Amino acid sequence: MQQETVTIILPTYEEVDSLPSLIDAIAEVKKQTLANLQLIIVDDNSDDGTESLISEKNLEWVRLIVRRGEKGLSTAVIRGLEEAESEYCIVMDADGSHPASAIPNMISALIEGADFTVGSRYVQGGTTEDGWGVLRWLNSKIATLMARPFTTVNDSMSGFLGMKRETFLAAKDLNPVGYKIGLELIVKCGCKNVVEVPIHFRTRQLGESKLTLRVQWEYLQHVIRLLRYTHPNFVSFFTFAAVGVSGLGVYILALMLTPLITAIWIAMTWNFFWDRKYAFWYARSKSIFVQYIGFILVCSVGAIANYFITTWFVNNSHAIPLAGLVGGLSASVIGVVFNYVFNKALIFRK
Ligand code: GDD
Ligand code: MN
Repeated sequence: MQQETVTIILPTYEEVDSLPSLIDAIAEVKKQTLANLQLIIVDDNSDDGTESLISEKNLEWVRLIVRRGEKGLSTAVIRGLEEAESEYCIVMDADGSHPASAIPNMISALIEGADFTVGSRYVQGGTTEDGWGVLRWLNSKIATLMARPFTTVNDSMSGFLGMKRETFLAAKDLNPVGYKIGLELIVKCGCKNVVEVPIHFRTRQLGESKLTLRVQWEYLQHVIRLLRYTHPNFVSFFTFAAVGVSGLGVYILALMLTPLITAIWIAMTWNFFWDRKYAFWYARSKSIFVQYIGFILVCSVGAIANYFITTWFVNNSHAIPLAGLVGGLSASVIGVVFNYVFNKALIFRK
């Protein structure tokens, strides 16, 4: 593999203590297998001596980019990928968790035709160093489960990534927020054939983890965004139905306090705001006033239909107990579909 051109991208924030041994390990890979290897470090103004460390080392194959205005793991990774000029790119953590020795295997996987490769803890031969608290382990497991709708990769949370540069350049609608840029790239680059290379994941020896509660919150939002991207109709309808159920609760509550017509109006208005925000998120830039009137009109048709269906059930099947309930339920189901279809087609257009 002496002729392949490879760029290693290291996003760093306050990793000056971990960098020397990692650079040595990467230098070893360069010497043994990948002669045309470059290193790009994308540091977010750590101000911890990273800059002087790199300039003292003075290695022609190592380049440091210091971002002064911006911060964030995913955008740092994207910046590195944009700066790379090689055929292959590898992204890894700078804290020593990811073994540089796995890089040649990852490049091999790409040469052999993989769209994407990850250094993986969860395939045969992969391991995680002991010392992960129960909480971090559980956290990682739940996060991995949440990525299931998008990929079957076992270690989809990995930050040890490899791809051809042209794969990255073909990415559509990248939205690099949060930590899980690997997942984002697999989905947005449309990678089907992802090969997992087993690694031993070491616990960070020096410095501190940057995985905070905020990072986890961002991940939740990331999953929702990805779901909207890959399964837009499912998310839209599912959310609409869920809002409908909440609206029913609001309606019952309002009925106890206000006249029928006011209760209907309150429930419709409640549903409107949540549906506009979550079920029809893609149409939020249009006039809220026009949408509101349209929504009320569409739902009124549904409400009137609901009334007739329910009375029909009650009148035509007096022999059956609970006919009113059956009528109400079936009308609700028809109503939610009707309201959804017409609101989507007429009021909340893309
Ligand atoms: N430039 C930049 N800016 N780099 C950052 C930032 C930032 O805001 N935040 C973190 N990094 C760098 C760190 O310096 C480190 O090299 C790497 O990103 C990962 O950060 P850690 O703090 O070590 O995160 P972690 O150990 O909790 O998470 C890692 O493990 C996960 C799997 O459990 C990361 O590799 C994740 O990507 C990975 O999914
Ligand atoms: Mn780490």
